[in-house]
Amino acid sequence: MHSMTRTVLVIGASSGIGRAVSRKLLQQGHRVIGCSRDVSKFSQPHPVFFPVELDLSQLEAIPDTCRQIQAQHPQLDAVVFAAGFGRFASLEEFSGPQIEQLMTVNFTAQVFLTKALLAKLKQKAHANLIYIGSEAALRGARKGTIYCASKFALRGFCQSLADECGKSSVRVSLINPGMVRTPFFDVLDFCPGEAEKQALKAEDVADVVAYVLAAPRHVAMDELILNPVNKVIQFKK
Ligand SMILES: NC(=O)c1ccc[n+]([C@@H]2O[C@H](COP(=O)([O-])OP(=O)(O)OC[C@H]3O[C@@H](n4cnc5c(N)ncnc54)[C@H](OP(=O)(O)O)[C@@H]3O)[C@@H](O)[C@H]2O)c1
Repeated sequence: MHSMTRTVLVIGASSGIGRAVSRKLLQQGHRVIGCSRDVSKFSQPHPVFFPVELDLSQLEAIPDTCRQIQAQHPQLDAVVFAAGFGRFASLEEFSGPQIEQLMTVNFTAQVFLTKALLAKLKQKAHANLIYIGSEAALRGARKGTIYCASKFALRGFCQSLADECGKSSVRVSLINPGMVRTPFFDVLDFCPGEAEKQALKAEDVADVVAYVLAAPRHVAMDELILNPVNKVIQFKK
């Protein structure tokens, strides 16, 4: 395992999985650039945490923001894509703009970010692109037409990107967690069961991200799946 200091861009650093990833990486002595739509959420300053405001629904702003980040942090050698949201409903209940927004934030924005950052990452001795997919990237689910489609799209993108980066130093990984107890469920009408074994913790996913980042340089971890021991969905009243 490698213990060198990394400079990691965490998209979605303000909450849930991305927040836990940022904390873990800072604890390990890495530098973290953390994105959110609202940087005032990063209320605890840290000497090597650098907040950046970014709204993934504004695709046209992504190339410029990436250029600024790479100019300010030329050491940047890893990105963790942990931003996204869930909307679950039958297809006929979705409006056109809702479909577009879910696909844009969960998929297209990740592609734009990758495209904008990739050339400089390829110049590094080694680099990581780590995407948070989902169990929804692996199989369709009830009321999941658009959410699952966004995650299936991300999975196809990652597999093809891994091939495209195969001759470079960039390692592409997709982590597919089952239900993780985070604010993701605050706006949904279901959540994981309350018992400890019925949900992953955001820190469990952060541990996997840290493991992928620290893997020996000749090892590419293409895809990792983790689940709570018991899968229990609880519907809110
Ligand atoms: N929780 C689960 O059970 C679970 C399971 C599998 C996969 N996932 C995936 O893991 C990722 C993170 O989910 P989470 O559970 O950590 O959810 P969360 O606690 O709600 O965090 C979501 C993060 O995404 C950011 N975000 C949302 N919309 C954004 C936008 N338009 N522009 C920029 N940032 C945006 C939020 O930042 P701001 O609101 O501060 O902008 C926040 O940092 C998502 O892709 C989700 O699909 C979650």
